[in-house]
Amino acid sequence: MQKILDQISAEVASAFEQAGYDPAYGKVTVSNRPDLCEYQCNGSLPAAKCYHKPPMAIAGDVAEKLKESALFSSVEAAAPGFLNLKLSASFLASYLEAMRTTEKFGLPTEPTPKTVVIDYGGPNVAKPLHIGHLRSAIIGESIKRISKYFGNHVIGDIHMGDWGLQMGLIIAELQQRQPELCYFDDSYTGSYPDEPPFTISTLEEIYPTASAKSKVDEDFAKKAHDATYALQHGKPGYRALWKHIMTLSVADLKKNYDNLNVSFESWLGESDAQPYIQPMLERMQAQGIITESEGAKVVQVQEPTDAKEVPPCILVKSDGATLYATTDLATMVQRQQDFHPDEILYVVDKRQSLYFEQLFRVARKAAIVPPQTKLQHIGFGTMNGKDGKPFKTREGGVMRLEQLIREITDFVRAKVEDNQLVPAQQVEETTRRIAMAALKYGDLSNQPTKDYIFDLDRFAAFEGNTGPYILYTIVRIKSILEKYGGSTDLPIQPPVTQEEKDLMLAITRFADSLQTAYRDAAPNVICAYIYELSGFANKFYHETRILAEEDALRQQGYIALIALTKSILETCIDLLGFSAPERM
Ligand code: ARG
Repeated sequence: MQKILDQISAEVASAFEQAGYDPAYGKVTVSNRPDLCEYQCNGSLPAAKCYHKPPMAIAGDVAEKLKESALFSSVEAAAPGFLNLKLSASFLASYLEAMRTTEKFGLPTEPTPKTVVIDYGGPNVAKPLHIGHLRSAIIGESIKRISKYFGNHVIGDIHMGDWGLQMGLIIAELQQRQPELCYFDDSYTGSYPDEPPFTISTLEEIYPTASAKSKVDEDFAKKAHDATYALQHGKPGYRALWKHIMTLSVADLKKNYDNLNVSFESWLGESDAQPYIQPMLERMQAQGIITESEGAKVVQVQEPTDAKEVPPCILVKSDGATLYATTDLATMVQRQQDFHPDEILYVVDKRQSLYFEQLFRVARKAAIVPPQTKLQHIGFGTMNGKDGKPFKTREGGVMRLEQLIREITDFVRAKVEDNQLVPAQQVEETTRRIAMAALKYGDLSNQPTKDYIFDLDRFAAFEGNTGPYILYTIVRIKSILEKYGGSTDLPIQPPVTQEEKDLMLAITRFADSLQTAYRDAAPNVICAYIYELSGFANKFYHETRILAEEDALRQQGYIALIALTKSILETCIDLLGFSAPERM
């Protein structure tokens, strides 16, 4: 479907042409004076310079040509040469009716769908998920859903940190506790048990214990390093243990991400990229882009145009160990081989932006992806507490994701129970949905790059610019539709009141908002849009006696309008990664 602004612009452009002026002057924008008009065209001002005529004369000529247009109920030339436009009720109704009956509300999707890999989540296996991982999951999931909605083939890749020192720490600790296990017996030749020698809760306890120990016990730290090295070089008993750790952790991660409505198409991790490292390094060696620096293998990425210093990217340390960057580049090799993506997006803390700059430069130099492949780091800021410092538990420790979700859920449940509007058997599910909306909207309504303050009272409020307020609007509409009882598949009618027209005009802005959110990878644009839309919906609801309306056709128009509003709101919150309850 043609976007409404394009349709209006085309009409005004043709009026410019009919009046003898260049149609290029007919560009229309949403009015910045909503008290005067709905749309405006300022083209007469620059046209005046070209045609050596007063702008008001040109605006007058064009207004004259638009008199008969079916699109407008009023066209006025206003000093010093603006065209003030108001849409006709019939055109607006027919535009909304087309939106209502067209797939995706007539949104112009990607003409040639792209293959997009989105790297987000990035949890470290066997380490607890914390707040930093939360933002990546929330933002990445939304960006993925938006890109899919535009028709792209999108692969969300969790890119687990499953190959680092934490594995060696766990193995070393386990060896101290249970040295008799077959995994530690070098002469063992049998097959290893299918069942892990520990549970997920032991695993959760082992890592922090081992990590703390390694900081005070040098001997233990060395054992953990050696175990990491042995694991990475294929020691069979350690590989078997690693598999156990992975099985338990992945199941646990899936549960956590399920709770967040976050899912991944690809569950690969750093370990999966390891086989690609050696061949990649050999190719880079042959390309002549690797240099030696104090025994390490590096790639120089400084460019003459750089204002700041961009340090070389280290790929192999002097002791032969590979690094975070080596693995990320090898992962890119793998993604190129498996998917030939048009874009790879990394939703990672903005403090890693220099790192990604280096990474992308190496990838370009080594031609790991074709030059036209877009590589983008979508960096996000920190979630802070009310004191403006990174969010902590009340005791001052690192806030674990599960604990945070529990706190939000408890807070919301108390409210839901207090309101007494939800039947007992629905309290848990309703609470879950409101809590998700509070958490996700609280995060996504900020520009991703900005730091923000986590404020439970504000995020969970049922009024104001919050997720629960959006849900509340949807629930309200659901309740009217339920009381109405009839089919909601009804045609949109021309608006009669201003509130009705305002709501309809807000609905027409759907495509523009989504396109901006998609183009800029900015879910916050969708939040701003649904906040505005909800405002108009509530105002309309307030000022209109929908259920008591006696004129059947008008009532059907109202029902059609709120049903369309509801569909759009539901679509938008789904793109943000949450959903509405039946009641609240
Ligand atoms: N596992 C990393 C961390 O916890 C994040 C990974 C980000 N993604 C990437 N491709 N480097 O900090």
